[in-house]
Amino acid sequence: MKLTYHGQSTVTIETNGQHIVIDPFFSGNDQAMTKPEDVKADFILLTHAHADHMLDAEAIAKATGATIVATHELATYLSFKGLNVHPMNLGGQFEFPFGKVKMTQAFHSSSIIDEEKQTITYMGMPAGFLLTIEDKVIYHAGDTALFGDMALYGAHYDIDLAFLPIGDNYTMGPEDALVAADMLQAKAVVPVHYDTFDLIKQDAEAFCANLEAQGQTGHALKIDALIEL
Ligand code: NI
Ligand code: MN
Repeated sequence: MKLTYHGQSTVTIETNGQHIVIDPFFSGNDQAMTKPEDVKADFILLTHAHADHMLDAEAIAKATGATIVATHELATYLSFKGLNVHPMNLGGQFEFPFGKVKMTQAFHSSSIIDEEKQTITYMGMPAGFLLTIEDKVIYHAGDTALFGDMALYGAHYDIDLAFLPIGDNYTMGPEDALVAADMLQAKAVVPVHYDTFDLIKQDAEAFCANLEAQGQTGHALKIDALIEL
């Protein structure tokens, strides 16, 4: 399978002719090099409702007919817009045509903010995903603080690749992400959710060097860089 990092938390996966998009944020990201209209999708996985994770979800779903996988509240909200959805909730897993998806907890918030109307609509819990695709295990943490149950994922899953936020301020920073990587015992880590805005500027190369120092492997991927698993 091919995994491509598009900046912020956006990851696309191509496996056996299926296209999966996690947290599509292209049009609002100055650093993104892919246009939402060029994104292929059979499934769109959303960790939570913040704009930097789902800004382009509706447009891509409309253009492709992709099914959106999200927590019950967010999925239902998007179904009201006529989109195909598959609601899940924390701890649940489901076998999709491309592989298995387990929705994991994340410590963050999840809401849709309408600046014009000055309203905030809560969308249930934020989440992460443990994906089993082609016998490989991929963990996308979503936006989250460090939490101890990551050790459970590490003990019960043989994680090949983990996407962990390092931006700090809104999520874990690099120091906590190092602890997370250790608990997850991930064979490789890709830092995400950094450098998109001034508030989350980080040195991803330094983070990967620190991973190396604790005996783990990190890949500070450039935008649109690809990893094969
Ligand atoms: Ni967020
Ligand atoms: Mn975010």
